[in-house]
Amino acid sequence: LTGKDLAGCRILVSAGPTREEIDPVRYLSNRSSGRMGFAIAAAARRRGAIVTLVAGPVQLMPPAGVEVVSVVSARQMHEVMLGRFAAADVVIKAAAVADYRPMIRQQQKMKKKSEEFILDLEKTPDILAELGQRKAHQILVGFAAETEDLLEHARKKLVSKNLDMIVANDVSIPGAGFDVDTNIVRFIYRNGEMENLELMSKTDVANHLLDRICPLWKKTC
Ligand code: PMT
Repeated sequence: LTGKDLAGCRILVSAGPTREEIDPVRYLSNRSSGRMGFAIAAAARRRGAIVTLVAGPVQLMPPAGVEVVSVVSARQMHEVMLGRFAAADVVIKAAAVADYRPMIRQQQKMKKKSEEFILDLEKTPDILAELGQRKAHQILVGFAAETEDLLEHARKKLVSKNLDMIVANDVSIPGAGFDVDTNIVRFIYRNGEMENLELMSKTDVANHLLDRICPLWKKTC
């Protein structure tokens, strides 16, 4: 039994996709439903944490007792996450942020013309990497959604974004990743240690993750 082991801990969670508008009727996005991040926020709240959930456009009920800040684009998520960072003890970034956005958002619906069409994109800010640079007392946890070379890519993100821990998520396995109620993940730590979790509900993944985060947070108190 974990009880209220996170009482007093201020946790900032991000969830869901972002949407990058092309014109008034079209956007670029991804398959994230927000379920993983919402499960983390709800579990943290049940364990006594003070939780803020920054959510991209999703179709989920806000978890009871959690402050939800709704955003649409990577730019908006960036602004809210940076604004809330100083007041957080733990940050968990389960959101699937768009890596690129259209360079220009057209004011009117674009008309069909030529057979081929090239859309110019620019990089969005890497929110997690920026938080990693600003990190003071915070425990910073990222996710890595991969379809190949899971561990290699996840380890690189752990180091380059200055994280304390990363949740490696092979999103090509049935029952794992986007838009399902279950997940299969591995936790990777700064010291190189790794833990493999079986297929389980996203709520169970959330609780395992919080079991690992809790002692790290207590050390910083
Ligand atoms: O929402 P669900 O349907 O439940 O699906 C869950 C999930 C698959 C979305 C989730 O488990 C997951 O893996 N989330 C991370 C998705 C992702 O975008 O991973 P990434 O490897 O592209 O990004 C690595 C990390 O950097 C992530 O913590 C991401 O939030 C962060 N990032 C990425 C790009 C960017 N511009 N800013 C960021 O902060």
